[in-house]
Amino acid sequence: MQNLPIIQIEGDLKLREIDPNSELDYFYSIIVANKNFFQSVEFSGADVNSKEQALELLLKGESAKKEGTGARFGLWQGRELLGQFNVFELKKEHRKAQVGYWLSQKYSGKGYASKALSSLVKYAFKDLVLHRLEATTAITNQSSIRLLERIGFRREGLLREAFWTCGKFVDDYLYALLATDKVGI
Ligand SMILES: CC(C)(COP(=O)(O)OP(=O)(O)OC[C@H]1O[C@@H](n2cnc3c(N)ncnc32)[C@H](O)[C@@H]1OP(=O)(O)O)[C@@H](O)C(=O)NCCC(=O)NCCS
Repeated sequence: MQNLPIIQIEGDLKLREIDPNSELDYFYSIIVANKNFFQSVEFSGADVNSKEQALELLLKGESAKKEGTGARFGLWQGRELLGQFNVFELKKEHRKAQVGYWLSQKYSGKGYASKALSSLVKYAFKDLVLHRLEATTAITNQSSIRLLERIGFRREGLLREAFWTCGKFVDDYLYALLATDKVGI
């Protein structure tokens, strides 16, 4: 997996990589602006406290791309970064991976995440030839739960105190979607 494609969604809405060299400051400024939003839903983005940590995240994406274990995209409308939609923990031998995502608060509740996740899922099943996609979400994160269920992900279980986020252990639901399931959008 060398260069990730640019995934056109509609109009000037697209998924494309975030460049760690030229877009780190912009990326970090958006994370900072959304800290309270992320904290309110116990999302791990709230734990990014420095530009170095933000760079680490982007570089992790770069190495995952080279190793074929992930594909991390920014969600862009023109030159505006709305959020991130990622495939990670890709295991070729099992044809499965995890998906993760966030939007800036100001772009939430408008349908962007449904369109972006739907495009990411199609890319993962078709281009990456995956069979199973997993997602975990804090059990209190209603927007994320609604998003996953809207796309067609099914809840498979409860992961008790599985993640250390925002200074405490958080219970997560495990969701999954198979290539043979019906995608909602
Ligand atoms: C999780 C997250 C991506 C969900 O985003 P979202 O904005 O709720 O999802 P969408 O962009 O698809 O918007 C759907 C909502 O917009 C509403 N909406 C408003 N206008 C709309 C339109 N024109 N088209 C579609 N939906 C529209 C829908 O009714 C829906 O509302 P509902 O969830 O109350 O039913 C977002 O809340 C987020 O980034 N949270 C912080 C980070 C996070 O929690 N990440 C996930 C960790 S597991």
